[in-house]
Amino acid sequence: MKKLLRNGVVAAALLGMGTTLASPATAADQRTEKPSLNPNQILNVAHRGASGYAPEHTLPSYELGEKMKGDYVEVDLQMTKDGELIAMHDETLDRTTNGTGLVKDHTLEEIKQLDAGSWFNEKYPQMAKEEYAGVQVPTLDEVIEKFGKSTNYYIETKSPDVYPGMEENLLETLEKHGLTGPNNPSSQVIIQSFSPESLKKVHDLNPKIPLVQLLWYTSPATITDVELEQYKQYAVGVGMNHDRIDESYVQKVREHDLLIHPYTVNEKEDMEKLLDWGVTGMFTNYPNRLHEVLESR
Ligand code: G3P
Ligand code: CA
Repeated sequence: MKKLLRNGVVAAALLGMGTTLASPATAADQRTEKPSLNPNQILNVAHRGASGYAPEHTLPSYELGEKMKGDYVEVDLQMTKDGELIAMHDETLDRTTNGTGLVKDHTLEEIKQLDAGSWFNEKYPQMAKEEYAGVQVPTLDEVIEKFGKSTNYYIETKSPDVYPGMEENLLETLEKHGLTGPNNPSSQVIIQSFSPESLKKVHDLNPKIPLVQLLWYTSPATITDVELEQYKQYAVGVGMNHDRIDESYVQKVREHDLLIHPYTVNEKEDMEKLLDWGVTGMFTNYPNRLHEVLESR
């Protein structure tokens, strides 16, 4: 077994802080429209939006994620040269725009000139739509301005070591839009990261925001009680690549009262298997498929 946090930090090196955990489920919780972070409500996370159908991390992709019954839209964050948070998976512009080079070397104005949709039309002609051509890279501000409080956001701090101040910037943005604070459901925003340092920083800044520790396995996964208790000091759950885990792994996470949200699960057969094992949600590029699976159970 070899397990790494994707930023290369060995999981066992994690240190603890104050704990924030989900309350026990009630029937009322399960009926509410806002997802509550109890293990009996399975979360459908639209990974990079409904990115199986539209160019990832664009407003059309997030819109489809909502329409297809995702409980959350997943937003990966990068930061521009002038300190603006944008929705993008890669540190470079090359794969998902017609630009090139590092995000951190470009201003927002420069990135706004780019086409973030035509690559998708070319790569997936069966899913191509004219409206995707020329679509812009959205800022986090724009995403929240568009979807407001009617949406739930599952936000990842990507490469936080490359972007000093990213966490502060993120929390300021959430607060500015009224997404965090005493009058908001604690489930409205979840913050995730492969970096324990980034999550601990967020936890220090605002311990009320639920956090999910991401993990990446390169061989069949095992996890220890010690590791899980360490994560539990600051996170409400863990997320990992689904193809390396098994039922005993899932059960062990659950025994520690942590949520478990594997990624990225696109086939119904895998969704069913993971649900049988006891996962409490999952990331998918096809939220409509997961919705159908959940409805049929
Ligand atoms: O955040 C869950 C999953 O998205 C992590 O992998 O590379 O798709 O961000 P990645
Ligand atoms: Ca992600």
